[in-house]
Amino acid sequence: MNNLPIGIFDSGVGGLTVYRALHDRLPNERFVYLGDTARVPYGTKSLVTVERYALENAAFLAAFGIKLLVVACNTASALALPQIRKQIGLDVVGVIGPGGRKAVEVIGCEKPRIGVIATEATVASNAYPERIYDACDKADILQAACPLFVPLAEEGWTDEPETYSIAKRYLEVFKDFRPQALVMGCTHYPILSNVIQQTVGESVKLIDSG
Ligand code: DGL
Repeated sequence: MNNLPIGIFDSGVGGLTVYRALHDRLPNERFVYLGDTARVPYGTKSLVTVERYALENAAFLAAFGIKLLVVACNTASALALPQIRKQIGLDVVGVIGPGGRKAVEVIGCEKPRIGVIATEATVASNAYPERIYDACDKADILQAACPLFVPLAEEGWTDEPETYSIAKRYLEVFKDFRPQALVMGCTHYPILSNVIQQTVGESVKLIDSG
């Protein structure tokens, strides 16, 4: 059983940021990665569609004889984790709980102000605030959806003026809120972390799914 690989899926290339973190910490493990680039983005799709895609991806990876499934996609973690756990018969790890707990761990539970940026579907699901409140019920949380970050990351536009200007517009809402930590609740966003960090300011701790 220990020799079996760990399966990871995401809606595209963004989950490779989670793969990299896992590989760094578990260098002796083998991984099978599925990036569903044919059907990206998930973040603009309905609950029923994301659930169907996530279950198909999980079954595809299970056929490789994996010992553990990591749902690296935040949108699939937010919307489909219970269904995957019910149907796959394997240990399944999502990214929402770990990301929310990490934000509280990094800034403490005194009076934390936590920003969350994610896809429209993840924001609408309220999965991050729920998991963050589990870790700290005193948290002040503000969420914003940043859908255009996904194609920018897929295109590799990590330092273009257009990316800075889109980031400025999306992240404007955090100016008054002044978060201490910002959860990048989408696997694609760490690819743009330089732009995001410069836009929100160096003092804001960025948390990623990895
Ligand atoms: N990988 C997805 C996530 O982490 C973002 C991209 C998408 O919309 O599919 O939520």
